[in-house]
Amino acid sequence: MPMLWESILIFMVHATAVSSDQHRNELCKGNRDEFGFTLVGHDYKSSYADNVGRCFFLCSTDERCQSATFFWNTKECKMNRETKASRPADFVKNPSATYIENDFRAKKGSTSSTPGSSCKDILISGDAQGDGKYWIDPAISGDPFMVFCDMTTAGGGWLLVSRFVMKTHDSFLDSRVESNSYRTILPNFNSNKQFLFTNGFSQMKQDTGFTQIRFYCFKKTTGRVFHIMTNNDAKGSDVLTFFTSSDNQPAACGSFTRLADDNSTLAERCDRWGFPNYNTWGHTSHLSDLRLFDKPAVWRNTIRVWFAGDAAAEYDRDGDAGSLSLGDTWQVFVR
Ligand SMILES: *[C@@H]1O[C@H](CO)[C@@H](O)[C@H](O)[C@H]1NC(C)=O
Repeated sequence: MPMLWESILIFMVHATAVSSDQHRNELCKGNRDEFGFTLVGHDYKSSYADNVGRCFFLCSTDERCQSATFFWNTKECKMNRETKASRPADFVKNPSATYIENDFRAKKGSTSSTPGSSCKDILISGDAQGDGKYWIDPAISGDPFMVFCDMTTAGGGWLLVSRFVMKTHDSFLDSRVESNSYRTILPNFNSNKQFLFTNGFSQMKQDTGFTQIRFYCFKKTTGRVFHIMTNNDAKGSDVLTFFTSSDNQPAACGSFTRLADDNSTLAERCDRWGFPNYNTWGHTSHLSDLRLFDKPAVWRNTIRVWFAGDAAAEYDRDGDAGSLSLGDTWQVFVR
């Protein structure tokens, strides 16, 4: 059976190359082969191959294989989970190697055999196909799972971490999916009540290396959208530290950017956030495991972000606390 596939594949490669004037040596290689280069640190398997064409064949018939390096001296064919596009820093010169890309490869994130490490990783690899479900395996555990990626908002690459949505009038009565394990929480993107605790969020930061958090809240009764993302700089990084591993309340102003649809009063007034001090994230009485949802941003006695996922969930409180309407949405993403 493998021999048959090999014949068909070689036929296909020849058929596409015959019309060009390429050198004979290039006939059995992919379009994206590069002599004198290799990708280091992402190989999962090594096989013997007589020649570069055989290495190309081995890679293109292994569903995990994104690219391979053929070493001319040792005739070793090293197969990689990544490509030079997804890991440019690891694409290096090597005079006795040829880098080959699998032209038949499954897009990263599209199958459980080719998981990304995060939504951002899939986006950077050029394999994003709109908002939706993707496979990831942040810890390279060999046990991937499916998550929801927002690949369009503010440049895309956002992994949905937590949310509460009023899908029906009784949504607030649904049981919460809550855990300290991101593996448990992230695949529950269809649940309208998923909450990841601080320790799990911290573990996730270690494994995926996310550098930004995005908060989205909409509450119909107040008619405002609160939509911000932390900046990808030192001030934004302090906010990530607060939500993963420290009780020091970081500065609010200068730590985030408002997104195009944000029309909230809260995001306008970062100078009023915080307790006991102004211009800070969080509230000193709410530094628990739940801080990502429990008053991450508070304007004392005026407005607060709080998505507890029960009747008390609220945003932009203006005397009318608590009441929920269909479509009210609280979401947290990272990238
Ligand atoms: C804020 O934006 C939302 C969503 O676009 C819209 O429904 C709402 O009317 C806006 N509110 C104000 C006060 O402009």
